[in-house]
Amino acid sequence: MTTDPGDLVLDPTCGSGTTAFVAEKWGRRWITCDTSRVAITLAKQRLMTASFDYYALRYPHEGLRGGFDYETVPHITLKSIANNPDIDTIHVEEHPKIAAALADLNAALTAVPPQSLTPTQGVRKGKPVDFRQGRDTIRMGGAFRLPRC
Ligand SMILES: C[S@@+](CC[C@H](N)C(=O)[O-])C[C@H]1O[C@@H](n2cnc3c(N)ncnc32)[C@H](O)[C@@H]1O
Repeated sequence: MTTDPGDLVLDPTCGSGTTAFVAEKWGRRWITCDTSRVAITLAKQRLMTASFDYYALRYPHEGLRGGFDYETVPHITLKSIANNPDIDTIHVEEHPKIAAALADLNAALTAVPPQSLTPTQGVRKGKPVDFRQGRDTIRMGGAFRLPRC
């Protein structure tokens, strides 16, 4: 996730070789080692018997230094979400659809409430939960209030 094709990845605790496997798969160079001969044997077997796609060199006359031809995708970070200039437009367009879907869902749940149940574990263990009391709805933001028992 934090490297680009051609970068060198080191995993000093090879284990079954997942880091090396994924590095190879995604065009990174890699070094790995382990204190366990079992781990090294497993990883070697895994890597030597796997089949991998290959990358074309971007500038063949430059060799590896010229990099690979590869697809790029935008990195989505919290910063890019927070600074997304389209967020207000998206909200204006999408919010009413979500609100309508939630209203439909709550109406359906009110019309045919789920049967009451008694949790067998957790903080509500042994306390009946009755959804038919109607106080509780699914609300925007993903919060689901359980009925007071
Ligand atoms: C959970 S696996 C590693 C998983 C691997 N790094 C991965 O990302 O898939 C832990 C490995 O660390 C190795 N190990 C433990 N102590 C070590 C050490 N001091 N030097 C190198 N390898 C070590 C163990 O032999 C074991 O194979």
